[in-house]
Amino acid sequence: MNLILLGPPGAGKGTQAQYLIEKYGIPQISTGDMLRAAVKEGSPMGLKAKACMDSGNLVPDEVVIGIVRERLQKDDCNQGFILDGFPRTVPQADALRETLIELDKKIDAAIALTVDIDALVERLAGRRTCPVCGAGYHLLYDPPHVAGVCTKCGATLVQRDDDKEETVRNRMQVYAQQTLPLIEYYRKTGILYEIDGMDSIDSVRSQIEAVLRNDS
Ligand code: AP5
Ligand code: MG
Repeated sequence: MNLILLGPPGAGKGTQAQYLIEKYGIPQISTGDMLRAAVKEGSPMGLKAKACMDSGNLVPDEVVIGIVRERLQKDDCNQGFILDGFPRTVPQADALRETLIELDKKIDAAIALTVDIDALVERLAGRRTCPVCGAGYHLLYDPPHVAGVCTKCGATLVQRDDDKEETVRNRMQVYAQQTLPLIEYYRKTGILYEIDGMDSIDSVRSQIEAVLRNDS
């Protein structure tokens, strides 16, 4: 099962990817997570990406296309993969199409999560993540068992640097300008499934599972 998760910042892509990893035993390919890891390592690519990410702008297409291309060739993608946060521009979607032709693979479903802007802002403001294992939480909607502590690994939870209000506003604009056209892009290819992302985490999960049951 080869999937794309589409949706604005805070829509729940990462949250739902965690369930899909467990259910289907396929890896999540999150360009955001990969870029944050590069920033943490202080690699030259990470240093370049940091300025874009801190301002809420996109990292240049050629950088992310290169990362994803390399990642898709790893053996663990043979049974499937979940693309989270990629593609994010039309040139990225075109590059993905070409790469998948070369690898003799195809996308089965592009799942778009739709969420109102007010809810997105609230979700990002309350999000906490684990800097060690990457688990995600929300202060109200998905709290850890002990406040401020990762339930999975016990590390101290942090707030993402780009979840500051000003940066969030820019990320929303960038999404509307550069990523929203991908909804039509995938609708035209007949693989788009729109899901009401305003429902609870469990309900969104059930909706996605129902779509994938019918698709497979
Ligand atoms: P990235 O890390 O991909 O961030 P994003 O797309 O902005 O999305 P988020 O991770 O913020 O949201 P999400 O949809 O995963 O929501 P989550 O599940 O955490 O990218 C970061 C940056 O990296 C970009 O700005 C850019 O600079 C760069 N970048 C990355 N990819 C790139 C690319 N392809 N090209 C160029 N640049 C790129 O949920 C959010 C919160 O809500 C959580 O607290 C969660 O618990 C809660 N929640 C989730 N679902 C629900 C629900 N149904 N009800 C209530 N609460 C919920
Ligand atoms: Mg995410």
